Amino acid sequence: MAYLTTHKGQPVLILKEGTGRKRGRDAHRNNITATRIIGEVLKTTLGPRAMDKMVIDSLGDITITNDGAAILDEIDVEHPAAKMVIEVAKTQDDEVGDGTTTAVVLTGELLQKAQELLDQNVHPTLIVSGYRKAAKKALEILEETGLAVDLEDHEILKTVATTAMASKNVGGARDHLAKIAVEAVKQITEKKGEQNVADIDQVQIIKKEGKSLLETQLVKGIIVDKEVLHSGMPKRMENARIALIADPLEVKKTEFDSEIRIRNPAQLKAFQGQETHMLRKMVQKIEEAGANVVFCQKGIDDLAQHFLAKHDMLAVRRVKKSDMEKLSRATEGKVVTSLDDLTSKDLGNAGLVEEHKIGEDKMIFVEKCKDPRSVSILIRAGLERMVDEAERAMHDALSVVADVVQYNRIVAGGGAVESEIAKQLREYAPKVGGREQLAIEAFADSVEIVPKTLAGNAGLEPIDILVALRSAHEKPNGYLTGVDVFTGKVVDMHQKGVLEPLMVKRQAVKLAEEAASMIIRIDDVIAAKKTEAPPTPPPRPGAPGMASGMGAPPYG
Ligand SMILES: Nc1ncnc2c1ncn2[C@@H]1O[C@H](COP(=O)(O)OP(=O)(O)OP(=O)(O)O)[C@@H](O)[C@H]1O
Ligand SMILES: [Mg+2]
Repeated sequence: MAYLTTHKGQPVLILKEGTGRKRGRDAHRNNITATRIIGEVLKTTLGPRAMDKMVIDSLGDITITNDGAAILDEIDVEHPAAKMVIEVAKTQDDEVGDGTTTAVVLTGELLQKAQELLDQNVHPTLIVSGYRKAAKKALEILEETGLAVDLEDHEILKTVATTAMASKNVGGARDHLAKIAVEAVKQITEKKGEQNVADIDQVQIIKKEGKSLLETQLVKGIIVDKEVLHSGMPKRMENARIALIADPLEVKKTEFDSEIRIRNPAQLKAFQGQETHMLRKMVQKIEEAGANVVFCQKGIDDLAQHFLAKHDMLAVRRVKKSDMEKLSRATEGKVVTSLDDLTSKDLGNAGLVEEHKIGEDKMIFVEKCKDPRSVSILIRAGLERMVDEAERAMHDALSVVADVVQYNRIVAGGGAVESEIAKQLREYAPKVGGREQLAIEAFADSVEIVPKTLAGNAGLEPIDILVALRSAHEKPNGYLTGVDVFTGKVVDMHQKGVLEPLMVKRQAVKLAEEAASMIIRIDDVIAAKKTEAPPTPPPRPGAPGMASGMGAPPYG
């Protein structure tokens, strides 16, 4: 280890005892191996005919999925470079909501190819600059091959949603879920100037085991996971006029302790009467505003409940703040902080507010809102794990539809767009020349990992598919050709209905190039000695299972 250096024959101690250090080729090889392993892990989950992973977390909870982001979220990785690749998946998921596996597999492949160039003595700086040029060109190719769609054509948006869900385990319900995703996103889309904005956080997803995926439903409004407060209140209210109140419907307690001496029964009665009077006035105020439904963020006093019930009002208490905000967006009502300010103008409207029993629980559906800016999806499926996978599928479907609504361009999937990028990069490389040309060609080979892996995962021969794709892309209008993993044929993916948002591919290419370049540029890794962890007490007998993290090779 080289943390000692000499100056005029004198040894000089620079780094602390115990510091680990890797330089040059060692540093590269170590980092690249670790990142490639992450790519290898995810490879077998790419595409509709891929395998799933079962991941068990430190508490013994099991997740079965094919979703790249979800898998990497669950596994424990120690190697710093591998952690960077996990960041790639997270960023991809946050930015565009799909294509996480593609981004990670592409990062791994770019690094694998970089390793081969390093072994041929191509300098890392040249690889990085070649990769940068290739990525820039790839983004241009994407823009040129991207097709605009008619956003009023729900069928095409449904196709994009179905493609995103093709790899998720949701069986025969795919069409049904895709339809819901499109309707939900269209409902929450807002125009800001010329730009469409679709914030999928405005789609609330509620999961409940039981029944089947086909019973998953879109509610044009909000589902509140609460029940009607008082048995004397109505459980159903048509043409609801809704008061949204942030304050408690209780008599406020003083902030300091006080003592009231009551000397006779008359005084007690007067005192209690005062409280009753205040609560009665509160309920009166709500009624005067014209409300017949109350959602209160805080508590509602027993007596106030009684008065509300007497006035035939439906009331719910302790509603989450986030639900209050969603209710406000869905019903166009205003959340008032002080009851004194409540007027009829603050009330929200919904065609129907009703308590439903879903499985074992009661929930309140605020539905038939006129033009809600916030909607809910109630996911049903037989098993808990299926409900979870359906939620991930729905997340991907909502994301891709929102992507297209916000940036109206789609590309052909099934490796079509990647094959086209590879082809055009190979034409571009000689124009750059020099050693950078080698890096650009390596980039072209790397993006072909997508069709290769899709084919391999479907039990097809990757090389045969690659050859067929390359020759198809030479033909005029061949740029839409990809591999149909169900028939094993090389066909027009646009006609086949395998379509993806351009945004997903753009983000994947950008992130993979940035992460790969960052790792290639590292030629010295200096790791401080690990501080000793405080001794952990031995697990109690019968305690949940101990950590079983899947680590990349430990660093150093
Ligand atoms: N019918 C099909 N034939 C061929 N390829 C398909 C088909 N349907 C989808 N694909 C391809 O599958 C790939 C997507 O697979 P998958 O959803 O497993 O990974 P991802 O989108 O990269 O990551 P994740 O969904 O885990 O975030 C895309 O390249 C897409 O074009
Ligand atoms: Mg996907």
